Amino acid sequence: MSAKEASTELHRCLTAWDLTLLGIGAIIGAGIFVLTGIAAATQAGPAVIFSYILAGLAAGFSAFAYAELAASIGGCGSAYGYAFVGLGQFAAWVIGWDLLLEYGTNVATICIGWSGYVQNILSAFGFTLPHQLTNDPFDGGIVNLPAVIIILLLAKVLSAGMKESSKFNNVMVYVKLAIIGFFIVLGGMHFNAVNWHPFVPFGFQGVVNGASLIFFAYIGFDAVSTAGDETINPNRSLPIGIIASLVICTLIYVIFAAVLTGLVHYSTLNNSAPVATALFQTGHPLAAEIISLGAIAGLTTTILAMYYGLTRVYVAMSRDHLLPKKIAAINPRTRTPQRLIWAMAILVSFMAGFVPITQMASLVNIGTLAAFIAVSASVIILRYTKPDMPRPFKTPFSPLIPTLGIVMCCYLMYSLPRTAWMGFWIWTLTGLVIYFSYSRLVAKKIRRTLLAI
Ligand code: ALA
Repeated sequence: MSAKEASTELHRCLTAWDLTLLGIGAIIGAGIFVLTGIAAATQAGPAVIFSYILAGLAAGFSAFAYAELAASIGGCGSAYGYAFVGLGQFAAWVIGWDLLLEYGTNVATICIGWSGYVQNILSAFGFTLPHQLTNDPFDGGIVNLPAVIIILLLAKVLSAGMKESSKFNNVMVYVKLAIIGFFIVLGGMHFNAVNWHPFVPFGFQGVVNGASLIFFAYIGFDAVSTAGDETINPNRSLPIGIIASLVICTLIYVIFAAVLTGLVHYSTLNNSAPVATALFQTGHPLAAEIISLGAIAGLTTTILAMYYGLTRVYVAMSRDHLLPKKIAAINPRTRTPQRLIWAMAILVSFMAGFVPITQMASLVNIGTLAAFIAVSASVIILRYTKPDMPRPFKTPFSPLIPTLGIVMCCYLMYSLPRTAWMGFWIWTLTGLVIYFSYSRLVAKKIRRTLLAI
């Protein structure tokens, strides 16, 4: 992997603030609007606030590890690139392959969620799209067309250039934050302390179960680390972007959860649009529609950030010759990997258009947790194997913090369903076949040729 080669290809144009907004864009999506209510109703009650703090801590331990390696190793490969330096090519391949799964399934899942919200808004205005065009073949339809359309639109945005994509992302993040702020003020005005009794109805175990459910809401800060090659002053800006976006989102989540559970009784929140339901219940139907717009803006930025991460991880892997390089060529005008962006759009629109959401959602968490474990492990290993490597940002209390990160992520992984594990093993085994039959051989051959020159 050559940092020099990278810097001459992609466009360095992102500031620490852009990265923070990229992180907030990636983190706040479906989780806050859907899972807060479901976790409160079924797992933790109003103590979902503590679930958010607990899950935020688990994410925070990993975020420190990401911040350290993003600042010292950089590149656009995120956990893949760090594993390459810390653990070697084979481990890096496994992690990179896993990241493609995490980002790809995340994008497809959220496109399907986006489609659902858009249909809600359209039906509120009296337009109902035909069942065949809003459902995959497994659910009695032909294709989930809105899910396909959003990915194609965002492919257009991403291929226009990184600064353009970032401007679009920033505007959408401001819209989403404004709408969340609107909910907090309105909900806060109707806060009723009676709804907080009982506060911990399912005990401590409920709080922990709630945390493993809403961990999904924190996924995304790692996408910031894929912007290493497009960031001005990455040593300083990457740690700021990763940690600031996570801290801001944790604060928002805690306040949002406190307001939602104070607005209505937690037991009424077990549905796919709990925030809108709560506003309907308290006599604010218009506000309920506005919240749906916020959710659409939120989902759009999450798709954009994860889709961006997906393409950048591929670019990093192809630079090391582990994946075909031609497809990742950077367009000299826009300085984006245009061909790759459109190839991924076709692949993801196939998944989003034709595969049911439940099949993919479970794969997102397992892929993410595996990557978080690899990054925390790389921090610990690199402190021993490369003690003199310059570290502009250092994880505090290492190896304690990365170890806690590993333990918490292992625990969350362990509590995931069997189907998620099966999907994960099938994906990993496929990756191993590709590695041993193609990637390892090509990378070796090219390295030999380069040495001979
Ligand atoms: N954190 C993202 C969300 O909540 C995945 O949608």
